[in-house]
Amino acid sequence: MLKLNCANIPKIIIALDFNDKKNAMKLVDLLNPDVFYLKIGKEMFTMLGKKFIYELHQLGFNIFLDLKFHDIPNTVFNATKAAADMGIWMLSIHASGGKKMLISAKKALQSFKTRPLLIGVTALTSLTHTDLKDIGIQMPLQDYILILSKLSSDCGLDGVVCPGKEAEKIKLLCGNKYKIITPGIRCLNDSTFDQNQIITPKQAKKFPIDYIVVGRSITSSKNPIKKLNFIIQSMQ
Ligand code: C5P
Repeated sequence: MLKLNCANIPKIIIALDFNDKKNAMKLVDLLNPDVFYLKIGKEMFTMLGKKFIYELHQLGFNIFLDLKFHDIPNTVFNATKAAADMGIWMLSIHASGGKKMLISAKKALQSFKTRPLLIGVTALTSLTHTDLKDIGIQMPLQDYILILSKLSSDCGLDGVVCPGKEAEKIKLLCGNKYKIITPGIRCLNDSTFDQNQIITPKQAKKFPIDYIVVGRSITSSKNPIKKLNFIIQSMQ
C-alpha cells in the first residue's frame, strides 16, 4: 500500500473510471483509504450501483459520487436524498441546472446528521470557448465559470468543480472555505485525451485548490503507483 507525505498539498481524488470491476479493484487494493478519496462516476455506478459503493465503504474509502445531477428540482431533490442515504462523502450536480434545482438539492440534505458535501459542476474541463458558443453562451468561459460558482455559493453549495486556473478568483468571490475540486490533471508527457482545461500537478500546487481529481493519468499508466508517486512529489 502506498504511503507518502501528502500534507499541505491538494488532496487527491482518484477517478475510478474502469469498464470492469476487476481492474478497478486492482488499483483500489494499492491505495490507502486514509490518504486517497475515490470518485465513482457514471460509468462504474451504472454498471455496479449501490453495492459497489457499499463495498468501497467497507474498505474505508470516502466516496465522491460524481453523477452530476441535472434535472427538474423535484427529481434532483429525490435523487440527492437517495445518494446521501448511501453515506457518500461528496456529491456533484450541474450548477447550470439553475437556482431552484440547486436549492432543492441543498434542501434534500437538511434531514441528514452527516451529509455529503454538495458540489456544483461549473463548466466541464473538456469544454472550450467554441463549445460554449455552440450551446448559445457568448461570454468567455472564465466568466461563465465565475457566474456558476457564485450562484452555487449563493444557493448554499459547499464548493465547485472547475478548471484549476479559475480557483483563485472563485475563492476571492465565494470565500476561502468554499471547496475547489479540479479535474483535468495532466503530467507533461500525458495524453490530454478529451480534456481541454488542463494543469500539471506542479501548477495545481500553486493554485488554491482543495482537491485534484486524477483519472487517466494514473489509470492508463503501466505503473499507476509510480505515477501517483510522481504526481505527489511534483506537488511538494
Ligand atoms: O481521466 P481524467 O483525469 O480526465 O478524468 C477526469 C474525471 O473527472 C472524469 O471522471 C470526469 O468525469 C470528471 N470530471 C471532469 N470535469 C468536470 C467534472 C468531472 O473531467 N468538470
